[in-house]
Amino acid sequence: MQKTNTKLVLGTAQFGGRYGISSRKIVNDIQFKKIMDYSKKKKIKQLDTARGYGNCEARLKKNKNIDSFNITTKIFFPKKSNKKPEDYVRFQINRIIKNLNLTKIYCVLIHNPGNFPKRSKYFYALKKLKQEGLIKNIGFSVYETNYLKNIIKKYDFDTVQLPYSIIDRRFEESGCLKILKKKGIKIYARSIFLQGLLLLNYNKIPKKFKRKKRSNAWRSWSDWLKINELSPIDVCLNFVNSNKHIDQIVVGVHNLEHLKKIINFKRKKIHYPKFFPLKNNKILNPLKWNTL
Ligand SMILES: NC(=O)c1ccc[n+]([C@@H]2O[C@H](COP(=O)([O-])OP(=O)(O)OC[C@H]3O[C@@H](n4cnc5c(N)ncnc54)[C@H](OP(=O)(O)O)[C@@H]3O)[C@@H](O)[C@H]2O)c1
Repeated sequence: MQKTNTKLVLGTAQFGGRYGISSRKIVNDIQFKKIMDYSKKKKIKQLDTARGYGNCEARLKKNKNIDSFNITTKIFFPKKSNKKPEDYVRFQINRIIKNLNLTKIYCVLIHNPGNFPKRSKYFYALKKLKQEGLIKNIGFSVYETNYLKNIIKKYDFDTVQLPYSIIDRRFEESGCLKILKKKGIKIYARSIFLQGLLLLNYNKIPKKFKRKKRSNAWRSWSDWLKINELSPIDVCLNFVNSNKHIDQIVVGVHNLEHLKKIINFKRKKIHYPKFFPLKNNKILNPLKWNTL
C-alpha cells in the first residue's frame, strides 16, 4: 500500500459535515485542497462520497483534481415516493452525474439495505442503469451482518462497503467475507479507526464508551500500544491491510497531516492482542452510539 496506494480510498464525509469522534469539524477550504492535491499526488484512485454528505458534491465538483478519481457514491431509497422506482432512481443518478460533472458513475451503493427485499424494484432499476452504461458497479453499504446475509442470497451485485477493524470483526467471523470473495464481490472496508475512537488516548475516549466493564478493553488497548511501542494508526492499518479478502480501504481525514500519517504508515508484522475484537454492537455501530 505504501508504494502505490491503490488500496486506499479517500472518504469524503468529513468534507460535507461535522464528522468524527473528537474534532467534529467540517474540513476547511485550505485543508480540503491540500488533501485532494496530496491524494492525487500519492496515486489514490478512488473517492467515497454520498448524496447525504452535506455540500460535499458541490465542493468536489469545483476541485481541479476531481477527474483523477473514480467516484463511489451512495443513495437512499425512500419508504414512500410519488415516483415509480425506475423514475426515482434515474432522477437520483442523473442528479449525481450533473452535480459531479461526470459522464458515468464508477460505483453506486445502496445506503439503506435494511429496506430490502421490500425495495427490490429500486435495486433492479439501478441494475438497468448499469446495463445502460451510466454506472459501472453497483452494490450495498452495510452496518450489520444480518442485512448482508439477506442481500447476498437474493441479488447479484459488484461491491459491498462494510465496517472492519481490529476491534470489529463481525463480518469476518460471520463468514461473510469469504462468501463475498467466492462470489467475486469487491469488499471495501470502512471505519477502520471506528470514526477515530481507536486513535484516541485513553483519557480522551468519551465516558459513555468506558462505562461498566467497557473501560477494560480501552485500558488494555492503550497499555498494549505503549508496551509494544506501536502507534494506533500503524496497528489499525496493518490489521486491515493484511486481510487478503479486503480489496479497498476507505479512510476519512480532517487535515493533510492525518492523511500523510495514513499514507506513510509503517508495515509491520504484529501479533495482535486477545482483548479485541469486541462483540458489543452498541459500540461497534456508530448509528447506535446515542443508545450507549
Ligand atoms: N457507507 C457508510 O454508511 C459510511 C459510514 C461512515 C463512513 N463512510 C465513509 O468512510 C469514510 C471514513 O469514515 P469512517 O467512519 O470509516 O471513519 P474512520 O476512517 O474510521 O475514522 C476517521 C476519523 O479518524 C480520525 N483520524 C483519521 N486519521 C487520523 C490521524 N492520522 N490522526 C488522528 N486522527 C485521525 C479523524 O477524526 P477526528 O479528527 O475527529 O479525530 C477522522 O474523521 C467517510 O469519509 C465516508 O466516506 C461511509
